[in-house]
Amino acid sequence: MKISIGSDHAAYKMKEHLKKYLENKGFEVIDEGPFSEDRVDYPVYAKKVGERVANKEAGYGILMCGTGLGMSIAVNKIKGIRAALAYYPKMAELARQHNNANVLVLGGRTMGFELAEWTVDTFLNTEFEGGRHERRINLISEMEENL
Ligand code: RB5
Repeated sequence: MKISIGSDHAAYKMKEHLKKYLENKGFEVIDEGPFSEDRVDYPVYAKKVGERVANKEAGYGILMCGTGLGMSIAVNKIKGIRAALAYYPKMAELARQHNNANVLVLGGRTMGFELAEWTVDTFLNTEFEGGRHERRINLISEMEENL
């Protein structure tokens, strides 16, 4: 599975850490940048990851900024993206089970690397439950059509 990953300067070190972590697990990681710790604007990277996932060039996206808030707000503007900010594994589990989230957002300044690893593992290993949740996802898709 391909995973598109991006951050801003505040979470650059976490991106680099998770990139290696995922590659060691056998995932193909598309690193959308940035490629240094220089100050950047998070919406640029939210757009790169979101479009990659929306275009089905990657199965999932992972985004990080200082809090994860800016990345969440930005990437959820892209049609077809359901991004979830998750600070611990249970949130990531429910984001997949109930919300069929296709982008996981983490906080580089609010989480340690180990907690980020657990949260990513849970996200990638949890399936969407469908059923009543499918109806709710479809209602969100309808909202996108009316934008
Ligand atoms: C950058 O200082 C910070 O604002 C950004 O990483 C993020 O937390 C925004 O939501």
